[in-house]
Amino acid sequence: MPESPALAVLQAGCAEEICSTGAAAPRSSWSGAVAIGDFVRVAHRDEIAPGTGKTVDVGGMPVALFNVDGVYHVIHNSCPHEDGPLGEGELSGRVVTRPWHAYEFDVTSGECLTEPAYRVEKFEVWIEGDDILVGKEAVHG
Ligand code: FES
Repeated sequence: MPESPALAVLQAGCAEEICSTGAAAPRSSWSGAVAIGDFVRVAHRDEIAPGTGKTVDVGGMPVALFNVDGVYHVIHNSCPHEDGPLGEGELSGRVVTRPWHAYEFDVTSGECLTEPAYRVEKFEVWIEGDDILVGKEAVHG
C-alpha cells in the first residue's frame, strides 16, 4: 500500500479488525460521500451483505462494490463489453455475472473470465469503523 499523508491519517484511525498498527478505533460520524484524502466513504458495512454488491460513487466515478465472505472488493463499474454496470451483476463466490450478456468477472482481481482482454481496474478498500472507504485511484488496470 502506498505511503501518503492521507493513508497515515487513515491508519491512525483504522478499525481493530484490519489495523496492523494497534491504534484505537475512533468512530467518525457518517455524512455521505465525504472524501478523506485519497479515499472516499461510499457505504456502511451493513449495506452490503455477504454475497452481494452494488454500484457506489467515488468522487463522481461509479464503481462496483462487492462483499465476498465478509471481505469487500471494488472494481470499475463499466463492463468493457458494452458498458453495462458491473455492480448490478449477480455475485457467486468471487465471480460476478453480468445480466446483459453473462460475461463473468473475478471481483477480487478485475479479471474477465469470459474474455481476458476485458479486464477492469481494481480499487483499494479501507474499513473505518462501520464505514467502507474506497481509493480514488485504480491500483492496476
Ligand atoms: S455489457 Fe457486460 S457482458 Fe455485455
